[in-house]
Amino acid sequence: MKTIFSGIQPTAIFTLGNYMGAIKNWSALQDEYKCVYSIVDMHAITVKQDPVKLRAQTLNSYALTMACGIDVEKSVLFVQSHNKNHAEMNWILSCSTQFGELSRMTQFKDKSQKHPDDINAGLFTYPVLMAGDILLYQADLVPIGIDQKQHLELARNVAERFNFRYGDFFTIPEPFIGESGAKIMSLGDPEKKMSKSDDNPNASVYILESKDDIVRKFKRAVTDSESSVRFAEEKPGISNLMTIYGVCTGKTMSEIEAEFAGKGYGDFKLAVGETVADTLAPVRDEYARLTANKDYLLGCMKNGAEAALKISDKTLKKAYKKVGFIV
Ligand code: TRP
Repeated sequence: MKTIFSGIQPTAIFTLGNYMGAIKNWSALQDEYKCVYSIVDMHAITVKQDPVKLRAQTLNSYALTMACGIDVEKSVLFVQSHNKNHAEMNWILSCSTQFGELSRMTQFKDKSQKHPDDINAGLFTYPVLMAGDILLYQADLVPIGIDQKQHLELARNVAERFNFRYGDFFTIPEPFIGESGAKIMSLGDPEKKMSKSDDNPNASVYILESKDDIVRKFKRAVTDSESSVRFAEEKPGISNLMTIYGVCTGKTMSEIEAEFAGKGYGDFKLAVGETVADTLAPVRDEYARLTANKDYLLGCMKNGAEAALKISDKTLKKAYKKVGFIV
């Protein structure tokens, strides 16, 4: 069985786009792969965080990931800082990473521009920590968004360099872009991807929003001046709504066209809004159930950390031997 690893920042706010494009697919992978997922709080502190908020968000992200379908009986789900091997592997890999290659990371350049008062060393070596996350579990596949591709490429280079220097050891990870990962566009501007950082609050739908808010946002979604529900390049707004409706219902685009033939945009938008809200309802309910039971969540976290520690101990110990430490 191949191993999958992915990390989620506890500061991430899950939008409908994240859900349909990524997280929903992760749960589908659990039977075919050995999946290891981490809430990466150590990555989060490379930018300023309020400690009280970070702690709460880490717990909430853990619960939300479970509510989205990550089953802790099937997969390993843990908080990064609960496994000290990540910090230790970070050091080993730092010594196989070049200053020059880290300087070329576009995310580092972007983030340093955004936070000119806090260009800390952790922000610079962030991709090394990330490489360690992946390599500690000898992951074959890493589900990531396009924005993390450069970091994954660096992880591969670091692993190859280590293997070349010390003898074949690390599995070289491949990016994993899910086949049915739908690309969901903004409701305010269907030419743009749905993003949590959109200035227009009506552009993005969040997983935990109420049914009323979700329906209202879909009613306001930007479309076009025609009135036929038809999937077409020149109708990006309607096409986006059709994609969303298709993901929720499993219907094809032509089935959706047939369903709404002769009906106006008002009816269609209402149907999409209600269907999305109903699709997300079980996630919201499960999230409420989980967050109401903090002891249970902390218990799951503890088990996850133990499982992660056990797998990664082996890798770290071997890496220590390879570089010449007495173990
Ligand atoms: N850097 C990733 C992001 O911001 C999160 C992450 C950390 C990650 N470690 C990882 C993703 C390992 C995949 C694999 O989205």
